[in-house]
Amino acid sequence: MTTISLDSAEPASLDAGAIVIGVVPDGRSGDGALRLHGAEGLDGALNGGLATALTTLGATGKEGEVTKLPTMGALPAGVVVAVGLGEDPDAEALRRAAGAGVRALAGTAKVGLALPASSAEEVEAVALGGLLGAYSFGTYRTGERKEPVAELVVLTAAGDAGRASLERARTLAESVTLVRDLVNTPPSDLTPEDLSGVAERVASDNGLDIEILDEKELVEAGFGGITGVGQGSANPPRLVRLAYSHPEASKTLALVGKGITFDSGGLSLKPADSMDWMKSDMGGAAAVLGALAAIARLRPKVNVIGYLALAENMPSGTAQRPSDVLRVYGGKTVEVLNTDAEGRLVMADALVRSGEDDPDLLVDVATLTGAQLVALGTRTTGVMANDDEVREKVVAAAGRAGEPSWGMPLPPELRKGLDSAVADIANISGERWGGMLTAGVFLKEFVPDGVRWAHLDIAGPAFNKGEPYGYTPKGGTGAATRTLVQIAEDLAAGVL
Ligand code: BES
Ligand code: MN
Ligand code: ZN
Repeated sequence: MTTISLDSAEPASLDAGAIVIGVVPDGRSGDGALRLHGAEGLDGALNGGLATALTTLGATGKEGEVTKLPTMGALPAGVVVAVGLGEDPDAEALRRAAGAGVRALAGTAKVGLALPASSAEEVEAVALGGLLGAYSFGTYRTGERKEPVAELVVLTAAGDAGRASLERARTLAESVTLVRDLVNTPPSDLTPEDLSGVAERVASDNGLDIEILDEKELVEAGFGGITGVGQGSANPPRLVRLAYSHPEASKTLALVGKGITFDSGGLSLKPADSMDWMKSDMGGAAAVLGALAAIARLRPKVNVIGYLALAENMPSGTAQRPSDVLRVYGGKTVEVLNTDAEGRLVMADALVRSGEDDPDLLVDVATLTGAQLVALGTRTTGVMANDDEVREKVVAAAGRAGEPSWGMPLPPELRKGLDSAVADIANISGERWGGMLTAGVFLKEFVPDGVRWAHLDIAGPAFNKGEPYGYTPKGGTGAATRTLVQIAEDLAAGVL
C-alpha cells in the first residue's frame, strides 16, 4: 500500500511531484469566482494569480471538480491539482476530494495533500481519502502501467493530534484495500478454500482466534444451507468463525457475511450479463474479514465474532435442484424453489450459529438482492432490522463512517409469500414486489430469539461497474467495512 506521513511544511516549499489543494466557490464575490481553502498560503504563488489561473481554466469550486495546473518552476511541486470542495465541506467531502485528487495523479511518485487538515478529524479524512484514492489492482496486469502514487504527505499543523488520526486512517485503508483486492480477485483464484486461507493469514497477523469448518464437518454439524449451495461446485464450501476479544468488554457483537465466491445462479442459471460481476458476491464476507482486521488493531472495548459463510454456487450433476428441501443449522427446513436465491441459504446457517455466541447485537452484510439496486441504486446500502432504534443507529453509524445507507422496513405481510407447500419456508416468494425486503423477512426467521439484529444489503455498493468517483475505484469498493468498524466502536461506547 501507498505510504503516508505528516509534514508541517508550507505547501509552497514541499518537495513533491504534485500537491493537491482544495478550492471552494467564493460566496462573497458572487461572480463565479473561487478561493483556496486549506492552502491559503499558496495565494501568493504564480505571482499571486493561482485562484485567477484556476478560474480561467473553468474551475468553480464545486464538489468533485478536478483541475490540473503546471507550476512552471514557480513551486518545487511541478503540478497543482485543485479539487472542488463545495460549500461547507464535511469530513466526507474531504475524503472524496483527497481521493479524487490522488486518483488524478496516478503515475506521480510523491504527492502532497494540502487540503484543510487543522483538526484530528480532518487529518484522518484527508489521509483516508488519499490512501483509498491511490488504490489500484495490478495483480493480473503485465507490461506497462501507471504506477499508483507511492508516497503521500499530509500537510498539517495538527502535530501529535494528527499522528493518531494518521494511524487510524492507515488501519482503515489497509482493511478496505484487502476487501477491494478480494472482491477484484478472479473467482478461479478465490475459491471458498482460498478465502478461508486468507482469513487464516489475517487472523494470525492480527491475533484473532479462528475456526474453519470444511465440507465434511459442515455436513456432520448440520449446516444444510451452506452444504446445499456448495454441493454443485468442485470447490467445496467453508464456514469461518473469527473472534476478537477485549479483556474489559461487557458486550459481544456478531457479524455475518455472505461469501459466495462466484454466483452463477446454480441450476436457476443467471443470464450472461447478470453473471459477469458475480465474483463480487463474497463482498459481505470480505467486509466482515476486513472489519475484524481493523478492529483487532483499533482495540475497542467489545468482543466481536465474525462469520464468513463461504460457498461457490454452480450448476452440475451434484447441484441442488429447484424443489429440493434442505435443513438449515438448528433444524428448520427450506424448500429451494430458485437456486439463485442462495445467499439467504448460507446466511441462515450462519445467523443461527451466531446465537451460540449470545451476542448483544447481530449485524449481517450481504450482496443479497438485485432488488436492492432497483430500490436504492448502486451506491446506497439498504438497512433493515428487527428493532427501529437499531436500524436508525446503524444508519447513523454508516453515515459517520462516510458510507451512504438508508433504512428500509420489514413488512410482516411479506412473510406469507414465503410459505412453502412442503417445508417450513420457501427461499423465494410468490410476491413480485419488494424483493430486498422479502429477503430480509426470510433472514429474520433465522435470527436467534431475543437478539437485536440489523441486515445490510450491499448488492449495489460492493462493486462499482461505472466510472471511478471520489475515493471509489472501478470494481470492488470495500463497501460496509468502515461501517462495521464504526458499529463495533459504537457498541463499545454504549451508543448502540
Ligand atoms: N447475488 C445475487 C444478488 C445480486 C444481484 C448481487 C446483482 C449483486 C448484484 C443473489 O444471489 C441473487 O441472485 N438474488 C436473486 C434473488 C431472486 C432469485 C429471488 C435476485 O436478486 O435476482
Ligand atoms: Mn444468486
Ligand atoms: Zn448471490
